Amino acid sequence: MSSSNIEFIYQNKIFKIKNADSNETLLNYVRTKLKKTGTKEGCAEGGCGACTVVLGELKNNEINYKAINSCITFLPTLQGKQLIIVEDLISKEGLLHPVQQAMVNYHGSQCGFCTPGFVMSLFSMYKKNSKFKDAEINDSIAGNLCRCTGYQPIIKAAKSLKKKNKLDQFSKNKKQTINLLKKISNKSVVIYYKGKKYFAPRYLAELKKILKKDTDANFLSGGTDLSLVVTKERKDIYSMIYMNSIKELNYIKNNNEYIEVGASTPLIELESYIKKYYPDFTKILKRYGSPQIRNVATIAGNIATASPIGDCLPLLLALNAKVVLQDLKKTKIIFIDDFFISYRKTKLKKGQFIHSIRIPLHKNNTFKAYKVSKRFDDDISSVCGAFNLEIEKNKVRSIRIAYGGMAEIPKRANYCEKIFLNSQITDKIIYKAKKALEKDFKPISDMRASRLYRAEVAKNLLEKFFAEIKQKKLIGVYF
Ligand SMILES: Cc1cc2nc3c(=O)[nH]c(=O)nc-3n(C[C@H](O)[C@H](O)[C@H](O)COP(=O)(O)OP(=O)(O)OC[C@H]3O[C@@H](n4cnc5c(N)ncnc54)[C@H](O)[C@@H]3O)c2cc1C
Ligand code: FES
Ligand code: FES
Repeated sequence: MSSSNIEFIYQNKIFKIKNADSNETLLNYVRTKLKKTGTKEGCAEGGCGACTVVLGELKNNEINYKAINSCITFLPTLQGKQLIIVEDLISKEGLLHPVQQAMVNYHGSQCGFCTPGFVMSLFSMYKKNSKFKDAEINDSIAGNLCRCTGYQPIIKAAKSLKKKNKLDQFSKNKKQTINLLKKISNKSVVIYYKGKKYFAPRYLAELKKILKKDTDANFLSGGTDLSLVVTKERKDIYSMIYMNSIKELNYIKNNNEYIEVGASTPLIELESYIKKYYPDFTKILKRYGSPQIRNVATIAGNIATASPIGDCLPLLLALNAKVVLQDLKKTKIIFIDDFFISYRKTKLKKGQFIHSIRIPLHKNNTFKAYKVSKRFDDDISSVCGAFNLEIEKNKVRSIRIAYGGMAEIPKRANYCEKIFLNSQITDKIIYKAKKALEKDFKPISDMRASRLYRAEVAKNLLEKFFAEIKQKKLIGVYF
C-alpha cells in the first residue's frame, strides 16, 4: 500500500501530513507549522547540534531513540517514526525531565541557544542506556557546540544522570507508542507536490518499479550530504527516492570471508559491529561527524559521494572492499579500487544504486587507520590514512596503503606499497617508502591544510603505523 500522506507519532498520537513538501526540513516544520520554537537553527548544515531532535523507531519490538539534526532532515522521512522535541520533555504535571533538571542543577545553560540541542542529545543517551560511562557522555554530545559554558557544567549535569531512575513519561507510554508505531510502519510513500516527486519504497521490488520510470531520481539515504543542496546551495531537488525506508537494505551479515553491509545501514550500527574485527574502523567512525550524523548517514552515501575526504573510503580501499551495484536488471560487483573515477565522480550509472558493500576479513593481517583533523570531534579529515599489512616469514606478503585528503579521489599509495613487497621491514625500507609517497601524491592546499602539511602528515602516519606495530609486537619483531 502506498500513500501520499505521511504519518508519524507526535505526543502519543498519529499525526498526518498531506502532501508534505519533500524539500522542507523537519526543523522548518517544527518551528513554523508546529509553532514550537525550542528547537533552534544555528548552522543549517548539521554542524552545531542546536536543531537536535530525537526520533523513536521500532527495532525488534522496542523503541530505538536516535538524536538527529532536524536542519538536514527532510520532512517526509519522518514517515513511520516518533518525533520527540524539547517541548515534549516536560511532564503533564509540569515537572522538568531529569535531563532538563540536571542542566538546571549544574548550571549547564548560559545564553541558552545551544541548550535544547544538548538536552535532546543527552535525552537520547539517557533513553538508550541503563548505565553509561564518561566516554559515552562525551560521545553523545560530540555534535553539540556551546560557545558559553566551556562544556564542564554540561558534562557534570550528564554525569549526575548516572544515578537517576530511568523511568519517565516515555517509558510509561512505551507500550502505547509501540502499538502506534506498528500501525503506521508498513507504508510506502509517493508524493507528487509542487512539481517535486518523493518516493519512499519499502522493498527492492518497489524501488525497481520506480527506477523504470524515474531514472533521474536522486537517491536519498541519510541525507547528510544531499540535504545541503537545499539548505546551503538553496536549490530544489525535484525527485528523490528515500533508500533508508527499504528494510532489505538495512543489515550487516558475515560469512567468515567478508562482512556485508546493506546500503541503508546507519554508520552507528557498523561502528559497533565492526569493532571486533577491525577496531580501528570503529575508532575512525567514532570521529566521523557526530552521533546525530552517524545515526542516519550510511556507508553507501559515503561511497557514492566519493569525497576525497570521505572517512570510510581509504579504509575500504586498504581492506580491498567490493561494492555491490544493482540496476533494474542485474547485479554487478566491483572492487572499490575501480569505483572512483575523478573528483566526486564514480562508476555509478543512471538508475544504478549501491546495494551493499563487502569488507573482506583479513584474519592474518594487521589493519590500522588514522584520522588527522583540526578538531577531534565533528570535523572533516585533513588526511586520513589506512594500512593493511600481511607478513609471512618475516617478509611483507601483501600491503595495502590508502589515503584520503591527498588527491582528488581517495587513493592507494601504489609506489609506496611496492617498496615493501617481499622485503623485511627495516628503518631503511620505511624511509624509502616515505620518499615514494612523494611520487604517489601531489596534495593541494586548502582551508583544512597546506600541501606541505598533508605530505608530511602522510609520511608520519606511515611511520606511526610501523612504530605502533613494533611497540605492541602486533606481528612479531622483525626490525
Ligand atoms: C556535520 C557533518 C559532518 C560530517 N562529517 C563527516 C566525516 O567526519 N567524515 C565523512 O566522511 N563525512 C562526513 N560528512 C559527510 C556525510 O556525512 C557523508 O558523506 C555521508 O556518508 C553521506 O551518507 P548519507 O547516507 O547521509 O548520504 P546522502 O546524503 O543521503 O547521499 C549522498 C550521495 O550519495 C548518493 N547515494 C546515497 N545512497 C545511495 C545508494 N544506495 N546508491 C547510490 N547512491 C546513493 C546520493 O544520491 C547522494 O548523491 C559529514 C556531513 C555533515 C553534514
Ligand atoms: S542548525 Fe546546526 S546542526 Fe542543525
Ligand atoms: S549556553 Fe550559550 S551557546 Fe551554549
